Amino acid sequence: MAVDSKIPPADPIARLDELNLKALEAGGPRRIERQHAKGKLTARERIDLLLDPGSFVEMDRLVVHRCRDFGMEKQRILGDGVVTGHGRIDGRKVFVFAQDFTVFGGSLSGAYAQKITKIMDLAMRVGVPVIGLNDSGGARIQEGVESLAGYADIFQRNVLASGVVPQISAIMGPCAGGAVYSPALTDFIFMVEKSSYMFITGPDVIKTVTHEEVTQEELGGARTHNFKSGVAHLACEDDAHCLASVRELMAFLPSNNHEDPPARPTEDPVDREAPELDALVPRDPMKPYDIKDVIEPVVDDGEFFEIQPHYAQNICIGFARLGGHPVGVVANQPMVLAGCLDINASVKAARFVRFCDCFNIPILTFVDVPGFLPGTDQEYGGIIKHGAKLLYAYAEATVPKITLITRKAYGGAYDVMASKHLRGDLNFAYPTAEIAVMGPDGAVNIVYRNEIAESDDPVGTKDRFVKEYRAKFANPYKAAELGFIDEVLYPRQTRARLVDGFALLRDKRLTNPPKKHDNLPL
Ligand code: HXC
Repeated sequence: MAVDSKIPPADPIARLDELNLKALEAGGPRRIERQHAKGKLTARERIDLLLDPGSFVEMDRLVVHRCRDFGMEKQRILGDGVVTGHGRIDGRKVFVFAQDFTVFGGSLSGAYAQKITKIMDLAMRVGVPVIGLNDSGGARIQEGVESLAGYADIFQRNVLASGVVPQISAIMGPCAGGAVYSPALTDFIFMVEKSSYMFITGPDVIKTVTHEEVTQEELGGARTHNFKSGVAHLACEDDAHCLASVRELMAFLPSNNHEDPPARPTEDPVDREAPELDALVPRDPMKPYDIKDVIEPVVDDGEFFEIQPHYAQNICIGFARLGGHPVGVVANQPMVLAGCLDINASVKAARFVRFCDCFNIPILTFVDVPGFLPGTDQEYGGIIKHGAKLLYAYAEATVPKITLITRKAYGGAYDVMASKHLRGDLNFAYPTAEIAVMGPDGAVNIVYRNEIAESDDPVGTKDRFVKEYRAKFANPYKAAELGFIDEVLYPRQTRARLVDGFALLRDKRLTNPPKKHDNLPL
């Protein structure tokens, strides 16, 4: 297991065989057994599941740490706790590192960090995504500041690679302390339920400092980060599910910011009608419906790969294909909070829109939004600043943008949700769309306050004004008259119009003014 001092075989090939075999032993059978007993795969087993069979080419298999303290000089394990290299997913190149918990608990040394930064540097040079499989006790305690420096070297590269190549993190074991910041800087974080956790400080420190008692799972398990904090983007049942999900995600992404996302031929006819859509949006504006019942019949084969399905469910985000070409979908969800935009939904969607824009993925937006969620909670939490993030993201995005208003598009939220005014390329509406400054009820309360108050029959009078307002403003025709809506669609024809629209926009060229970088309202 450890690199020992016995005299190596004279035959050079036999020597290499011996070293290779030693490296594969990793932390030894006992620790591998412990890993399996926890329901976790080893680093190499994970890489095998992630990549196309036989495609993995390992690098730096013979690297060892340089620590001479705490007796570490006697424990030098080939590879030093992280397996790095490159391989293929669906035939496309990726770089990968897999932290090996069986070697010093997967803890990060200086040499280990250099293995990771080496593949990140190469990935950026050749324009290939980086996938990190995280399972580590954090900074290698015996190495002190050398380990901290190693983390910072990785963080720096995460930042430089952001928007250049996709970076995906799978959290498949512990991930604590400052170590969480590398995954946090990447584009997507997938976590495995019950065996992974992420936190800045663990339960013991929390108990000492704040006397709060909390388990690791409650503090930073997959459920916490998928349902509560929004740090993670997917919760997976086990290692195999997590790795399969990473493969699925990769199929939507280009390898770098100069490429278009990969097209995949589809048997699903591009002009397939979905007659059920004609009656899907309830005529009663107070009645909810599931926006996924609009998305799924429209996209190729009904396949929608939802991201963050459990967090800020008032907005839906994810990837799908139209006529074989990937699109990023953003959709208000009337089933939750009536589809209102709040802080969490704004931030969730803004980050997604910016990701799509970085990587040339066209954005399809479905709008049914009564407005921003009112209240002190939201105002004190900074909805102004957070809502501005979504506005900013849509306004700066230069990828093809198609917007479809299915029902409500009220107030500032109308502007924000990829409106024509934020350089929406094609803006469609269903005949059920209601586009106005606010809903009929709120509007007549303000505009006709005196008339209603002074009337002998305030309820009847208000009802009459609401009907008048609805007839005049709660429809798509005023916006269509002004050219803010390009076409009012027959819902059954949505798929054909969207496929056609994105085909029209495929060669879109639009750039923003040159600048050092923007100043997103953080
Ligand atoms: C060196 C470590 C280690 C570490 C674990 N090991 N963490 N070695 N440095 N950070 C070793 C253990 O000694 C053990 O070695 C083996 O890994 C497995 O660890 P166990 O404790 O037996 O495993 P388990 O019971 O599953 O517990 C896992 C754990 C625990 C919860 C991760 O090991 C733990 O709390 N480790 C310390 C975590 C930590 O505080 N790290 C520093 C965080 S601060 P043997 O030889 O027995 O197999 C940080 C700063 C980063 O990371 C800053 C970046 C800016």
